[in-house]
Amino acid sequence: MFGEVTIGESEKVLMLLASANRDPRKWDRPDEYIIERGAGGHVGFGAGIHMCVGQLLARLEGQVMLAALASRAKTIELTAEPRRAFNNTLRSLATLPVRVTANYHLSIPPNFPNGSLSNSEQARIG
Ligand code: HEM
Repeated sequence: MFGEVTIGESEKVLMLLASANRDPRKWDRPDEYIIERGAGGHVGFGAGIHMCVGQLLARLEGQVMLAALASRAKTIELTAEPRRAFNNTLRSLATLPVRVTANYHLSIPPNFPNGSLSNSEQARIG
């Protein structure tokens, strides 16, 4: 039994991961991206005994990448309609064309090595 459905012996079951995190019984307006949404209880990293063991690293990477982008980008805008990847079970994008304009005061000089600023560079650009 799974919910109200009985799954017989040797019957095939197709997992539709694309519907994960879009259950309208749990999420209000499940197909919208709402930046203020409290996302506690999502299943993006799985659940239970096989829950993602790399999720702390993945969350840290996401945080570092988005913080760096937010501090350096003044605007991020779509330049064309995003295109979905052709996939029966996973929901993802094949393309997401965007134009990013730099936050002039915080952008890294193009000739600067290692992606970080020295004290003198930091002082110069404020
Ligand atoms: C945004 C990035 C990531 C997402 C969305 C993600 C998602 C997931 C999901 C949904 C599962 C559960 C699969 C299942 O139930 O069968 C999983 C398992 C797993 N993930 Fe991740 N993952 C991410 C990054 C990582 C990273 C960076 C590592 C390692 C450094 C990692 C290592 C693993 C491992 C080893 C498992 C299997 C755990 C087990 O079966 O006990 N993942 N991941």
